[in-house]
Amino acid sequence: MPIANMRDLLREARAQNRAVGAFSVSSIDMITGVVRAAEALNTPVILQVAQVRLPASPLPVIGAAMRAAARDASVPVAVHLDHGMTVDCIRQALDEGFTSVMFDGSHLSMEENIAQTKAVVEMAKPYGAAVEAEIGRVGKTETGAALTAVCADPDEGVRFARETGVDALAVAIGNAHGVYEGAPVLRFDVLEKMYAVCDTPLVLHGGTGISDEDFRRCISLGMNKINIATASFMAVNQAAQGVPEYFEMVKRMSAAAENVARHHIGVFGVRKAEEA
Ligand code: 13P
Repeated sequence: MPIANMRDLLREARAQNRAVGAFSVSSIDMITGVVRAAEALNTPVILQVAQVRLPASPLPVIGAAMRAAARDASVPVAVHLDHGMTVDCIRQALDEGFTSVMFDGSHLSMEENIAQTKAVVEMAKPYGAAVEAEIGRVGKTETGAALTAVCADPDEGVRFARETGVDALAVAIGNAHGVYEGAPVLRFDVLEKMYAVCDTPLVLHGGTGISDEDFRRCISLGMNKINIATASFMAVNQAAQGVPEYFEMVKRMSAAAENVARHHIGVFGVRKAEEA
């Protein structure tokens, strides 16, 4: 089937009060594992790769594999650039046929984040691609480097969504990438305010380490896309330990990525058949 667009997946998820799992991938075994999980649960997913991971998985190579897997899948699968930091990389992803991109301007001032996000939204339009942006700042970078978390401001969020026209808005509510030190404390009050005033589907980054109960509460308060990366990378790495035969190792790595995706899709909500 055609590669899905994140915009459509989020619209459907919002109507069904669930979230779409966005799983970071860096290799063919991970891609196939995530797609198998989506097919088994008959639920759309997003395959994503972050700009910082491209030295390990070059964009044209991983992009081609992600797109091929999405086209082959029996359920809608979107192909997304996570945490795009530079216009060059975002343009390359659009040229490669990614159906959505994230521009991460969370390190910029609000005015500059709005201005640069607007430019990315304009750039993505001729491709028909969806755009995600971030307000506030999620703790830690994608690679686990320290970064002070800044909670999003709902009033600024409404203005940001209106002025930029983004399709999805990542909101920092105390979440962090990588492994949490202690249980995460999410600001549900902030999320509740944001949901009350903002129509744009919201995105939760830093899914690894968040409890199933907190995921469900986030979804009930408007999170329609949830990102999972570290949990998959750790599970795949663990599965590879001590396996003496290469193809057996690849099989186990793929099964590990599948299991992580299956669990999370189950928690985020499976697609309701009558509305599919
Ligand atoms: P984790 O690595 O904490 O799962 O976060 C994933 C993420 O938000 C990718 O952008």
